[in-house]
Amino acid sequence: MTIDTQILTALRAAGDNGVAGTELSQKMGISRAAIWARIEELRSLGYEIEASPHLGYRLLSVPDVLHADDLLSNLGQTKVIGRDIRVFEETTSTNDVIEKLARDGVKEGVVVFAESQTKGRGRLGRKWMSPPRRGLWFSILLRPQLSPTAVTQLTIAAATGLFRGIRAQTGLTPEIKWPNDILIGGKKVAGILTELSAELDKVKYVIIGMGVDVNLSAGEFPPELRKIATSLKIETGQRVNRAELAVNILQELDRDYQRICSGKFEAVANEWEEHCSTIRHNVIIHMGDRKIQGRAESLDTDGALLLRTQHGHLERIIGGDVTLEK
Ligand code: BTN
Repeated sequence: MTIDTQILTALRAAGDNGVAGTELSQKMGISRAAIWARIEELRSLGYEIEASPHLGYRLLSVPDVLHADDLLSNLGQTKVIGRDIRVFEETTSTNDVIEKLARDGVKEGVVVFAESQTKGRGRLGRKWMSPPRRGLWFSILLRPQLSPTAVTQLTIAAATGLFRGIRAQTGLTPEIKWPNDILIGGKKVAGILTELSAELDKVKYVIIGMGVDVNLSAGEFPPELRKIATSLKIETGQRVNRAELAVNILQELDRDYQRICSGKFEAVANEWEEHCSTIRHNVIIHMGDRKIQGRAESLDTDGALLLRTQHGHLERIIGGDVTLEK
C-alpha cells in the first residue's frame, strides 16, 4: 500500500473523529512533515481534508476523479482483479495500454482506467465515445487457464459482474443483451470489448475492456445515439459516484472470475440467463453480410449462444449483432 492509500484508509476509518498527525506519522513510520506534504498533495488532487489542532485531519469530501490509491483503499482484498490499479488522465484506448502491459509480462488482475480515451473502440470495429470524467473506461488483464474457445465464458462472466456492480451502486435493474451489452429501459448503458492473444489451444492473455456511461447528460450523446444509448445519471436522475461504482464493479468481477477459474461457469451462466433479454426470444443476428433468424435458446458450455433457426437447426453463435424480432 502506498503512503497515500494508507492515509486515505486511516482518514476513512477515523470518520468525523479525525486522526492526529502524530498517529499517522507513527503508523506509517514517516515524519509529521512528510505526512503534511502528502496531505497537501491529496488536497491538490481535490480531496477536502480539514486540519485542526483538536481533531487532527478529517476527510470532508473526495473529488470526482479516479485516483488509483483511493480505488485500492476502497476495494479492499480481492483475489485477482484490482490487485494493481493504474489511472491515466488520457490514453488512446485502455485496451492498448493493457496489451502493452501483457506483452511486458505484467501479472493478471491489473486494471487500467482512463479519464478519457482518444481512440476508444467498441465491438465490430465501432468507435466508443469516452469523454473526460463522464464514465468508467477501463480494461483488465487476465491470464486464465482456458482454451481459446472457452474465452466467451469470460465475457459472460464480465457482463454478469458488471450487471451486479451497476445494480448494487444505483439500485437499477439493468438487462443483459447477448453477448455483453448492458441496457436500461432498452437503451445501452455499458458495453464490453474482449480481446485475446492465444496459441492454437492455449490462451496467452485476455483483455476485458469495459465502458460505462455514468454521468453523461442526454445532450452529450451525439444525435444518432440518443435513441439507443443512455447513462446512469439520466436513468437515476442524479450524478453517480464513479469511484464507488468502479469499486463495486471490480469486486463483482473478481467474484465471477473466481467462479470461472474454479469451473463454476454454469452458475454464472444461470445468473446471466436470468437477466438476459435475448434468451427465449425470437431474434435476428447480423454477422457481417450474413443474417440469421431464430429463437435464442440458451448458452452452451463455452458461453456461445445456441440459436434454433427457422429451419429447426441449432446454430452456435459466437459473434454478431442481435436485435429482438418485433
Ligand atoms: C461495445 O459495446 O461495443 C464495447 C465497448 C467497450 C468500450 C471500452 S471503454 C474501455 C475499453 N477501451 C476501449 O477502447 N474499449 C473498451
